[in-house]
This record gives sequence, structure tokens and C-alpha cells, in this order.
Amino acid sequence: PTRKGAATTVTTDSTRRPDGQSASNELTNRQGHPITNNQNIRTVGNRGPATLENYDFIEKLSHFDRERVPERVVHARGAGAHGIFEAYGTVGGEPASTYTRAKLFQEKGKQTPLFVRFSTVVHGTHSPETLRDPRGFAVKFYTEDGNWDLVGNNLKIFFIRDAIKFPDMIHAFKPDPVTNVQDAERFFDFCAGSPETFHMVTLVYSPWGIPANYRMMQGSGVNTYRWVNQAGEAVLVKYHWEPKQGIKNLTVKEANEIQATNFNHATQDLYQAIERGDYPEWELLVQLMPDGEHPELDFDPLDDTKLWPNDRFPWLPVGKMTLNRNPADYFTEVEQAAFGVGVLVDGLDFSDDKMLQGRTFSYSDTQRHRVGANYLQLPVNAPQKHVATNQRGGMMQLRVDLAPGQNPHVNYEPSLLGGLVEAEQPGKEHTPYVQGNLVRQSIDRNDNTKQAGETFRGFEPWEKDELLANLIGDLSRCDARIRDRMIALAEAADDEYGRRLREGLAQAGGGGSSQTNLGNRDGAQAPNDAARKGH
Ligand code: HEM
Repeated sequence: PTRKGAATTVTTDSTRRPDGQSASNELTNRQGHPITNNQNIRTVGNRGPATLENYDFIEKLSHFDRERVPERVVHARGAGAHGIFEAYGTVGGEPASTYTRAKLFQEKGKQTPLFVRFSTVVHGTHSPETLRDPRGFAVKFYTEDGNWDLVGNNLKIFFIRDAIKFPDMIHAFKPDPVTNVQDAERFFDFCAGSPETFHMVTLVYSPWGIPANYRMMQGSGVNTYRWVNQAGEAVLVKYHWEPKQGIKNLTVKEANEIQATNFNHATQDLYQAIERGDYPEWELLVQLMPDGEHPELDFDPLDDTKLWPNDRFPWLPVGKMTLNRNPADYFTEVEQAAFGVGVLVDGLDFSDDKMLQGRTFSYSDTQRHRVGANYLQLPVNAPQKHVATNQRGGMMQLRVDLAPGQNPHVNYEPSLLGGLVEAEQPGKEHTPYVQGNLVRQSIDRNDNTKQAGETFRGFEPWEKDELLANLIGDLSRCDARIRDRMIALAEAADDEYGRRLREGLAQAGGGGSSQTNLGNRDGAQAPNDAARKGH
């Protein structure tokens, strides 16, 4: 879509001229020199060879040659928007301060600006948005205490529970290193050997693996975090986003019809809704659990392949997010946006969830490679409060983070000569006691199929039909050893699930079609009624 007038969207800091001058429309180069001829390179005579001192031409092409930065290794395709979070001030009828001292949740009506990036996971920056894949749901809150990033997905669980398996998982899900084609056999080869994936596979191969667009999907922090109150007491917390627009997922047939004519439909849908003032909204809800191991549960609260059943751990609303402004420039804001699970504010804390711990290293590490050492100085990533650090230098340093009145010669701490000083501890620190042998071991209570069975039984009939058609379609072209393991997992999860998968695969025989986009092929043709509640 073309925007009707640039004025419909407020320009952000990222597009404002640093000198504050009003810009004329005269074309210049990056040195500020006027460009008087943008049609012809400089040559000896109008047919003659070009000269090396064609500075403007060489600068123009050299910049063009560098227009791309490395795409995200996962979640490369995305769409973003600015918005606002409004707190309710309470959690389940209690003041928010009972559980967390994070300032953004404390007062009813308190507003915090934010930036969101939605994404698909496996394929590259211009891949179709109809593919079967989890969807990323990353939110950056610019709070008064600095940034908080809640980097989640649309589904509430994940494939694996230990971060060391992530590179293998992504290699298996991405295109084959030889053919460069995504291959369901590689996907299921990994999943068959990693049975903890089965619950997530059950969701991703159902219509929940193809959300209709970004506005009509849920979000979830997936991993378990902690909230800490003023007294330093902690609870375990999971975050969920519920769309006010309702939830809508696609059948394979519907997805294929969209993909035949438009592979950008989700980006367009979000952009156009915001341009016409139809601002999408999500409610933020949390599930809380007292801190601890919870031996009474049949799952570990730190296991991100598990749902916390909502009858025992109800979803408690804490606030509302509204997306109300499109980015002024895609690359500046959306492509260069950098989210990370380590980015927490006071009152929010980590848990020992092994995925969360591994993720916390990975995000800022990749961002230093993808965007550069000073990625946090870019306007979309910088907090909307004053920053004062002793970090200096590195590629593309835009400014020095000095405090007002700071002695600029002192870029170290401690100092008696006017440097930066440590901040006050804002509340009692949460200091959990840990002890144990250093081991490389899976958690106990790692039942891989029980919740997958519950999720299967919670599906509507058309969702079960789609799930089975999609699984049978892709598994029928996998090695028999892989098929057998997947059947065994389905049988352990639910009788009907296992029986239908076994029978369907026996009927289909081996050797399905040679191409797949992970089940996004002819599936069952089932009705997809409007919005419905999530699982
Ligand atoms: C993006 C690593 C698990 C959600 C990324 C990126 C990396 C990464 C390296 C690219 C970041 C960038 O270039 O800016 C990992 C690792 C994981 C893991 C090592 C497991 C150990 C998860 C899980 C979720 C998730 C469980 C969902 C809760 C996302 C999202 C993005 C992303 C939404 C895109 C952020 C954006 O829009 O820029 N991940 N990830 N990841 N990851 Fe993960």
C-alpha cells in the first residue's frame, strides 16, 4: 500500500536531522554537498571512459553495496509498530505492588510507550507470511527505569527445554544445507529424537501453526520469569497477550489461497489497520505461582514445553497494549530493532528456566554482530530516559553517554574527580539460595506427551482433521524409523491421535510429494469459523 501523505505518521527521532535545521528538498550527498546531476556519471566526452574521481557516483554505489546488514538468524521476516501500554494497577484484585515493584504496573492508567515486532521464524526476510511456523511477538517497553523487553511467541510453549539444543533445532527446521530447500524429513528427524518437541509439534501442525495475521493472534513470554516486590519476595510468573480483535487461524487451503496472490498479507494487514486508525489492542495477563519447585505438580514450572493449567493458575489481567503508530522507516526501526530476554527492569527477574538462561546470552551477542557494538544508541533501541555509562568507542558510536555536569575526562568508576556513581538499590534484593552438584542432566518430571494429549482433546473436530492431514502429508515422506517414533509419541499422548496417525500413514504409504513447506499443502478442507478462544 502507498501511504497517502507522509504527514499521516509522526516522524520519529530516528528521522529528524541532528542539526535541527529544517530540511529543504535539495538532493545532497552525505557530506552535505548538493548533487547537481543525478542522471549521468562523469566521463571524458559523453561517450568516453569514466574517471576515478567520480566521488558522488562511487559514494552512491558503495553505500548501495552495503544496504543490507545480516538478517536475523531466526525471525528474519517481521513487521513492527509503536504503541502504548496502560497499566490496570492491580493483579487479581490485589495491588500490583503485592507481587512486583516494577514501576510500569503500579498505578491504574499509567502509560508506557513501547515498540512491537511480530515475525515468522524459519525463513528469510521476504519469505511468505502464510507459512506454518510459530510467530514472534517481541515487545520493548520504554519504562522510566529503562527498557524492558518481553520477547515471546504466539504459542505458549516451545519445542525444547534446554538452550543447548537450539542451534540443532534451527538447523533441522531451516532449509537443507545442500539443496537449500526446507525438508519435513529433517524437521521430523530432529523431533523424533527430541520427544519434548511433541506438544509444540501438535500445536504447530494444527491450524494454530498458521495465524491469519498478526492482529488476530495471542502472544506469550513462554519462559518462566520472576516478579520481585519491595520486600525482595519473589513469585514465578508467565506472561500472555490476548488480542481484543479475537483469534483466527488458517486452514492449509485458506493459507494457500492467500499465498497465491500475496505473500506479505500479515505485514500489510497490520500497517493498513494502523493507517486507518483501527488500532489493534492486546490485554496483558499473567499467571503466578509461589516461587519453588512445586513437587505437587506433574510438571516442572521451569519447563517451557509445558502449559500452566489455567484452572489452577488463572490468567490475571495487568494492563492493555494499543498499537497506534507505524514506523517512519522500516529499516531504521524494524530491521535494526534489537530485543533480548536479559533486558529487565527493577521488580522483574530471571528464573532458572534453562531456556531463558541460554537465550539471555544469545540475543545481545547476535545483535553486536548483526547491528554493531553500539546498537543500543540507535533511537529504536535506546531507552527513553537519560543513559550514563563509562562505555566508550566501538564502531558507529553516535554520542558519549555523559551525565549532566559529569567530568568528561573520567570514563571509569570509582573516581573522586566527578565521574559517575553507583545507583541506590531501589528495594530489597531477591537473593535466592542455590546449592547442588554441577551436572549435565535433564530436569525430572519430563513427561513429553501428557499435555500434548490434552491439547489434542481440546481441539475442535476441524482442527484435529487439519492436524492429522498435515502430519500424515509430511510424515508420509519421512524414513520409516522417524514415522514409527512419531506414531509412538501420538499413541502415548492420546488413543484417537495415535490411531488416526497410524492408520493415515498406513494408507498414505511412504513417498509423499517431493516438496513441503512444513504441512502448508493440501490438508483437510475444514470450516474455519471466526474468532475463538485460545488454548
Ligand atoms: C530472535 C536465539 C528461543 C522468540 C532470536 C534471535 C536469536 C535467538 C539469536 C535473533 C535476534 C536478533 O537478531 O536480534 C534464541 C535462542 C533460543 C531462542 C538461543 C533458545 C535457547 C526463543 C523462544 C522464543 C523466542 C523460546 C519465544 C518465547 C524470539 C523472537 C525473536 C527471536 C520473538 C525475534 C525478535 C525480533 O523481533 O527482533 N532468537 N531464541 N526465541 N526469538 Fe529467539
